[in-house]
Parts: sequence; C-alpha cells; structure tokens
Amino acid sequence: MLPRLVQYLVSSLLYPQARKLGFLDMGMGIEMRSHKLRRFWQPHFELCREFQRKWLGHATDASRVSANDAALMVLGAGHLYDADLDFLAQRFPNIALVDANPVVRSIWRRAQRNSQRSTSISMHTGDVSGLLEHWNNRLTAQLAAAGTQHERWENALRDVRDAAVIPAESKNILGRFAEGRPLSVLSLNLLSQIPLVWQHNIEKKLEKRFGKQWLCAHEQEWLEAFFPGARLLVDQHFADLAALNPESILLLTDVQYAYYKWPQKVWPSGSIEAPFKWDARSGWTIGSEPAPITRTQAPSCEVLSALYGLDLENAEVRKELLPDYSTKAAETWLWHILPFGAEGQTRGIIHRVCAFLFTRNAV
Ligand SMILES: C[S@@+](CC[C@H](N)C(=O)[O-])C[C@H]1O[C@@H](n2cnc3c(N)ncnc32)[C@H](O)[C@@H]1O
Repeated sequence: MLPRLVQYLVSSLLYPQARKLGFLDMGMGIEMRSHKLRRFWQPHFELCREFQRKWLGHATDASRVSANDAALMVLGAGHLYDADLDFLAQRFPNIALVDANPVVRSIWRRAQRNSQRSTSISMHTGDVSGLLEHWNNRLTAQLAAAGTQHERWENALRDVRDAAVIPAESKNILGRFAEGRPLSVLSLNLLSQIPLVWQHNIEKKLEKRFGKQWLCAHEQEWLEAFFPGARLLVDQHFADLAALNPESILLLTDVQYAYYKWPQKVWPSGSIEAPFKWDARSGWTIGSEPAPITRTQAPSCEVLSALYGLDLENAEVRKELLPDYSTKAAETWLWHILPFGAEGQTRGIIHRVCAFLFTRNAV
C-alpha cells in the first residue's frame, strides 16, 4: 500500500493536470482493484482479449499499411489488462497507445521492451474527448464567482447543463494521436468512463464549495444537470471515431450497471459468480445461487444505463451513430466488478459489457 501511496504522491506532483481532472485517481483505483479482485476481473479481461483475437485480425489487412501510417490505435489502453498486446503486435506493424493517465506510460514502455516483435509503439497521453479540461476550468471559475449560496448553486448547475453543446467546429480530435489514418481503432472499455470522470469532477467541486450535506440533499438536481453533458460525451465519441474513418472499429464498453443488495450478508465472499445473470430474452434475473435463498434473503437489483440512455444494442441506433459502418460482430457478458461486501460496502456491482466489431462499408 505504501509504495502505491508514494507513487500516487509523486505522480500528483509530476502530473498536476491529470490529477486535477481525476485520471490519476481512476488509474490507481483500477490498479488496486485489479489486484485485490483479480479472480472477479480476470474472466472479463480474458473475454476482452478473446474478442480482439477473434475479430481484429480478420477485420483488417495490416500488410497494406504504410510504415508511416498508424496501423492500430488503442484508445483507453491504460494498464493493458484487457489488451492482448502480443497478438496485436503480431498483426499490426505499428500501434498508437492512447490514455489520459500519464502514469501508464511506464507500463507501455515495459511491454514494448518485453515484446518479441518489431512492432513500433507510439505513446500518447491526453483526453480523447478534448472537452474535459475546458469544462473543468469553466466550472472552477463559475464556483469562484461572488453571489449568495443559492445564486452560486443555480449558476453552477446552469454551467454544468450548458456544457452539453456540441462544439461548433468539427475537429478531428483523435487525429492528434496518430500520424495519418489508422487502419483499425480499438476503443477499450473507455466509453462509459469518459462521462464518469466528468461526473466525479463535478461532484468533488460541488462538495468542496457547498458541503457534503447540501450535495446529498440536492443530488437529483445536480445529476439531472450533468446528464446532457454526459450523453454528449458518449455521442461525441462515435462522431470522433467516424471522423478518423478507419477500416474497422472494435468497441468494448459497459452498457449497464446493476447495483444489487442483499438484505442479509448471505453471499459467501469466496463466490465469483454474480448473483444476477442476463440474457436477451429475459433481461436480468437472479442467477444460480451458491446457497439456497429464501424469499426474505433474495437480493434486489437496480439497473442503470452506463451510456446515459444510448441503446447501443439497437442496430438502428448503431447505424445512426456510425452511418458508414456495418456491425459485423456483437457479444455481451457480465463483469462482477465489485462483489457484495468485498470492500465492506452494502451493495455489489455488476457491469454488463458489450463488444462490437464495425467495418466500413465499401464505397
Ligand atoms: C476502465 S479503464 C479500461 C481498462 C484499461 N484498458 C486497462 O487495462 O487499464 C478506462 C481507461 O480509460 C482511460 N480514460 C478514461 N477517460 C479518458 C479520457 N477522457 N481520455 C483518455 N483516456 C481516458 C482511463 O485512464 C483508463 O485507463
């Protein structure tokens, strides 16, 4: 724990902007939980890698890539837990890794050193939305303005709500991270995290200015103000992917969060299986239980959209988001990300993940 804490403090000094925007906290949380909850996270990581092996190789003809072009761009590469870098390096002559957390660059360098392949790996640190720093600075300035508590609150909420304006200039924001046009893009468990970082920033700032009690009492209000900006970040990711115009896009993302509760602590902590399962016909249902569950012990479950209402599993919706692409493969699975009681908390969390392969239509 101590080395991690020291590493966090050093990183905060080295990368104040990434700390301010919440990317260091997110990275440290992922690293800690991926170790502590390894047994629960590993099946998800393996399914992500398998989807890459199954679809990324077939979707593209990497031999056609010129040495100067980015062959594959990996967005949200992070700690590379869910990437099969060895396989990707076999397929692509060069790979651009992208993440907003600068700390992971040392992991990327190590992976490059250990790689048997001649693949060149370029490393890019930055926010893929290109919006968060601006939104963050604007809210900071707004909260520093004079006024009564009520005025400041209303102005802050207006500011958060107004963030949801599509930038007038159409910019190829992801183009910053690559030379030329990438043949393939892998968006790796990133999409749902973009608005999540913005949400944490808003929460932290509002709590600092108005206090925890005020924030709890007005939770519904600020979450409603946050919603349109969150959705814009999700929609914008597809517009940014389309602007890059690669031949294929592999997108892996959470689509739903299921929060479950047990009335009593009956869930054996050793069990990996999630207490809820999902299938397209019945939706969420109670899964196979490790112990007989009586009526009074049955868990309850609240399911939320991880993409702020965007129904990515609807083919028509995908067509609207990426009109020049067809969906060639789609899979879904559950990720028991935080088992009930694992951190002493009173609810468990299961993510439903979807993976899609999109290929560009022939012209
Ligand atoms: C849930 S993790 C995905 C797992 C990651 N591939 C790994 O193995 O660590 C989300 C990753 O997206 C990155 N991320 C989140 N929001 C981002 C943004 N706006 N721009 C760039 N990267 C972002 C985080 O830093 C994190 O590494």
